[in-house]
Amino acid sequence: MILSARNIHRRFSTGDNRQLEVLRGISLDFAAGEITAIVGPSGAGKSTFLHIIGLLDRPQEGTVLLNDVDAFSLKEQQLAKLRNKEIGFVFQFHHLLPEFSAVENVMMPALIAGVNQDDAHGRATALLEDVGVAPRALHKPNELSGGEQQRVAVARALMNSPKVVLADEPSGNLDSENASALHSMILELRTKYRQTFVIVTHNRDLAALADRVVTIVDGVVQSEGKQ
Ligand SMILES: Nc1ncnc2c1ncn2[C@@H]1O[C@H](COP(=O)(O)OP(=O)(O)OP(=O)(O)O)[C@@H](O)[C@H]1O
Ligand SMILES: [Mg+2]
Repeated sequence: MILSARNIHRRFSTGDNRQLEVLRGISLDFAAGEITAIVGPSGAGKSTFLHIIGLLDRPQEGTVLLNDVDAFSLKEQQLAKLRNKEIGFVFQFHHLLPEFSAVENVMMPALIAGVNQDDAHGRATALLEDVGVAPRALHKPNELSGGEQQRVAVARALMNSPKVVLADEPSGNLDSENASALHSMILELRTKYRQTFVIVTHNRDLAALADRVVTIVDGVVQSEGKQ
């Protein structure tokens, strides 16, 4: 397994001195090259779980193994390094840096990881081709359509060849045509790079394309099925 979550518990303190247990013992394994869709009602804990397996947030109990490394046993700096190298994120809103061009945005994770400018530029250009935005490489985010912005965000997520790409409602902000183009692109990238994806979505079409659908309800896995 490329990524395993074991018995994840996450509690938040509420204002009145009580604890809200949002994740109540979630265990899930993710295999290389697999696309998993995580679905479930609003407030079920999907984003909270995604943040934990993305090493952006820590659980009170449980472990996350990324390529057999117990991530939360690492020191903060090593954890950040592991996250930057091995995890790509795509959010509902693209979070591209407005003052940088598409190609510069895609290069960014590699530059942060210390890759030289030329190599980063070469790979970013190839990824922009993969996602069909190469002709817009020099456009700033506000000079791209919503669909193009989201494709650039996917290319950026892939930049460091991460073990896994995590996406939270990647097509939540797109019209149906752009959403379905994004979905087929994700399938192509999985085939081309054997990329592992974990995608939280309310979109039925996207869930239907996934290899596996996990339903989280009230902080636990309610069902898990191959399709
Ligand atoms: N930092 C926080 N502090 C307190 N409560 C939080 C915090 N983050 C999330 N929660 C609560 O945890 C619950 C789960 O939130 P989460 O964002 O994981 O839900 P979700 O399944 O992603 O929902 P949606 O489909 O609406 O995005 C919610 O009730 C939310 O209010
Ligand atoms: Mg959410």
